[in-house]
Amino acid sequence: MSTPTYEQIYTTLKEQDQLHLLKYYNELTPDRQASLLEQISTIDWNLIHMAGQKPASDEKAGKQIEPLGAMELTEIEKRHDEFEAIGLEALRAQKTGAVLLAGGQGTRLGFDKPKGMFNIGVTRPLYIFECLINNLMDVVKQAGTWIPLYIMTSRKNHEETTSFFREHNYFGYNPEEIRFFQQDMAPSVGYDGKVLLEAKDRISMSPNGNGGWFSSLCRAGYLKEMQERGIEWLSVFSVDNVLQRINDPVYVGAVISSGCDCGGKVVRKASPNERVGVLCRESGKPAIVEYYEMTDDMRSLRDENGNLLYNFGVTLNYLFRLKRLEEIREKKLPVHIVEKKIPYIDENGNEVKPEAPNGYKFEDLVLDMIHMMDSCLPYEIVREKEFAPVKNREGVDSVDTARELLTKNGVQI
Ligand code: UTP
Repeated sequence: MSTPTYEQIYTTLKEQDQLHLLKYYNELTPDRQASLLEQISTIDWNLIHMAGQKPASDEKAGKQIEPLGAMELTEIEKRHDEFEAIGLEALRAQKTGAVLLAGGQGTRLGFDKPKGMFNIGVTRPLYIFECLINNLMDVVKQAGTWIPLYIMTSRKNHEETTSFFREHNYFGYNPEEIRFFQQDMAPSVGYDGKVLLEAKDRISMSPNGNGGWFSSLCRAGYLKEMQERGIEWLSVFSVDNVLQRINDPVYVGAVISSGCDCGGKVVRKASPNERVGVLCRESGKPAIVEYYEMTDDMRSLRDENGNLLYNFGVTLNYLFRLKRLEEIREKKLPVHIVEKKIPYIDENGNEVKPEAPNGYKFEDLVLDMIHMMDSCLPYEIVREKEFAPVKNREGVDSVDTARELLTKNGVQI
C-alpha cells in the first residue's frame, strides 16, 4: 500500500468531521507527519460511526432465552475416571493447545504494566503469569507431555510481556512450546465521537477486545502449525484467574465425550444478583447473557428443587473444537462499545489522564463466539478451588480475595 498523501487524508477527515487530528501536523518532523497520516489511513470509519449508538447487547431484546443446564459436580465426580482417561489420551496425543488472553489493559487493577506481571505474592515474589504456568505445569506433569501454549499480547504490552517471560526463564515452561502473537488495535473516541489523540503524532489506539484472538492467531500463521501438529481442541483463558485449571484432563474428557462444539467452565452463582454472565440457550443456540441483559425475573427464577434457573456464571475458560473455530473464522462478531478512561491530549496539547470515563473503546468479545457454536457444555467447577480473578485492587474479585483463595488452596504466597 502506498503512503497516503496529506491531501487525501485531509479530504477524508473533512468528510468525517475529524480535522482536529491534523491540529499539530505542522509542528511535526517529516517522519512523524508520515506516521500520523499512515495511522489515520487505517481508521475504520464505520466503527467510529458506531460511537454513541445502541450497544450490540440490545440486539438480545426479543430473542428467546432459555436456561441451559450444566454438567454439575455430582455427575463430574461420578464419571471422574472415565473423563480423566479420555482427557489424558487427548493430552498425550497432543490434541489440545491453550491460548492465554493477555492483551488487555487491566485498567481496573490500576497497574501500569501487563497484568500478568503483577506480583500477587506477599512473602515472596509470585507473579500472575507464574501462577498460570504453575497451574498448567500440573497438567503437563500428570499427562507427561507439553501443551502448546499461545500467548496473545497487544502492541501496547508485547515487548514487556515477552521480555518478562524470557527474564524468568518462562517460569519453567518449555520455551519451544510457547508462541506469542499480537492482537489488533482499534481507535478510541471521546463522548463527542471525535477520535482522540494520545500524542501530537499518535491517535489513541487500544486493544480491540479479546474476541479477535482466533483471527489474530491465524493471521500470525499458527493455524497451519496447529493443524500440522494434530491439535483438535483449543482452550482459551483469561490472564486474571490465578487458580484456574487449564486443559485439566477431567474437563477435557468431559467436553470431548459430550460431543459438543465447545465447553465452558462455570461457577454456581453466589447470589441471584451476582454480576456474572450466564450460559443460556438463545434461539436454540448456546449464548452468554450478560448480567445487565437479564430481567429481574430471569435472575430470580427457580426450578422445582429451589435452584436458580439461570444458575451458572462463566469464568472465561473455554475449550473449543478447532474445526468449528475454522468454520466461523470469517464471521463478524458484534462490536461492543465500552466506556473507559482514555488518556489524551487536549486542545492545548497537554496530556490528560482522566479520573472518570471520558469516551468509548470498541471491543469484540470471546463470549460472542459461544453463540456461533451449535452446542456448548457448561462444566461446573468448585468456585473456592478454581475461581480467583484479579480484576480490582481491593473489594470484590481483587488482589485481596485472590490472595486469600490462593492461601486456602495451599499456594505459598
Ligand atoms: P477484561 O475484560 O477483564 O479486560 O479481560 P482487561 O482489559 O484485562 O481489564 P479492565 O477491564 O481494563 O480492568 C478479560 C481477559 O481478556 C483479555 C484480558 O487480558 C483478560 O485476560 N483481553 C481483554 C485481551 O486479551 N484483549 C483485550 O483487548 C481485552
